[in-house]
Amino acid sequence: MKEKKNGYISFKESREIVKYNKTQIRYYEKLKKRKHIPEEEYLATMRNPENLVEFDDLHTFFFTDTGTVKAVDGVSFDIPAHSTVGVVGESGCGKSVTSLSLLRLVQAPQGQIVSGSIRYRTKDGACYDITKLPQDMMEKISGKEISMIFQEPMTSLNPVFSIGYQLDEVSLLHIEGATKESARQKSIEMLKLVGIANAEGVYKSYPHELSGGMRQRVMIAMALCCRPNLIIADEPTTALDVTIQAQILDLLRELKEKLDSSIMLITHDLGVIAEMADFVVVMYAGKVIETGTVFEIFDNPCHPYTIGLLKSKPVINKKVDELYCIKGRVPSAVDLPDYCYFRDRCDMCTDACAGKYPGFVQLTPTHKVACYLYDTKQS
Ligand SMILES: Nc1ncnc2c1ncn2[C@@H]1O[C@H](COP(=O)(O)OP(=O)(O)OP(=O)(O)O)[C@@H](O)[C@H]1O
Ligand code: SF4
Ligand SMILES: [Mg+2]
Repeated sequence: MKEKKNGYISFKESREIVKYNKTQIRYYEKLKKRKHIPEEEYLATMRNPENLVEFDDLHTFFFTDTGTVKAVDGVSFDIPAHSTVGVVGESGCGKSVTSLSLLRLVQAPQGQIVSGSIRYRTKDGACYDITKLPQDMMEKISGKEISMIFQEPMTSLNPVFSIGYQLDEVSLLHIEGATKESARQKSIEMLKLVGIANAEGVYKSYPHELSGGMRQRVMIAMALCCRPNLIIADEPTTALDVTIQAQILDLLRELKEKLDSSIMLITHDLGVIAEMADFVVVMYAGKVIETGTVFEIFDNPCHPYTIGLLKSKPVINKKVDELYCIKGRVPSAVDLPDYCYFRDRCDMCTDACAGKYPGFVQLTPTHKVACYLYDTKQS
């Protein structure tokens, strides 16, 4: 990407970007539309058979008029079976795009999975690379095996259809041999499962007649209809007040145990992570900068960004004049530097940080960090 004078793109540069985007989009769309994709292209082997999902060097870019937005730029982490993985990071760091890539719901044509793989182990033990899977097979997996709970239930539920109609649709679409009556029974059973007392009444209601907490419960019921292997919860409680938030989190935890699923929990609330997650993935500007178990990240945060995040969280019984705030801003996803993306905001920067983007340093078998401070070979 060329340097922009005064932040503006010249007409010539703009034309170059449009031309480049056209060729890139045409290439990736053509790849997706291929018919009869040979099995060996999408069959994969899990690195660790205990894992449910393995993100491996995933790159998802948006080809926009101002340049290529590297929303996800080489992300690798695992979701072990029966566990909750919390993904945390500042707004715009690529959390949602990572999860949308897993469901192949990135906004096309400008948004494309450019490289890397996402290995997924299905309920019947097969292992696929989601990024290469034919569309018809992907449709069978999304909803039935992997489902998503979105941040804002009012925009995810259709206002002109009743709750019952929308819930029934999930069963009719994904459960083989489902009839109208069996779908209705399943919907009411799911509404009861998520703690709705008047399930029959809510079944006949429309979204606007329910409170925010009830709508989120309906969204959860919808997501769990097919007993998914993996539940992606993208900021599931951000729009709710704290008491309802606690109820929804309890419900998610309980249902995860009941259904024996894994959860990928996306949030910028570290309190939610501490309460729910077994493993934590910290993202910054499209990259993973630290991963570890919840104890490792909270007791021994290593990356200066993670340390800053934890310092900026209010603590009960600890009086401070002013909460810590990480200075500066995240670099633009279009013009990323070739050195550590956090360098311009980092208080712990050393001479070694002038080098190229730091690689991962393995601190324990489960804890790793991308920072020169821990790289004994280079610092
Ligand atoms: N449809 C799109 N077109 C262009 N850029 C996009 C699009 N969707 C996302 N992006 C860009 O991708 C980057 C990552 O976005 P993403 O939605 O994953 O952030 P996030 O970490 O989920 O943030 P938040 O906490 O605010 O939800 C951002 O820079 C965003 O501007
Ligand atoms: S590599 Fe250097 S600049 Fe980057 S986070 Fe670590 S100490 Fe800070
Ligand atoms: Mg998001």
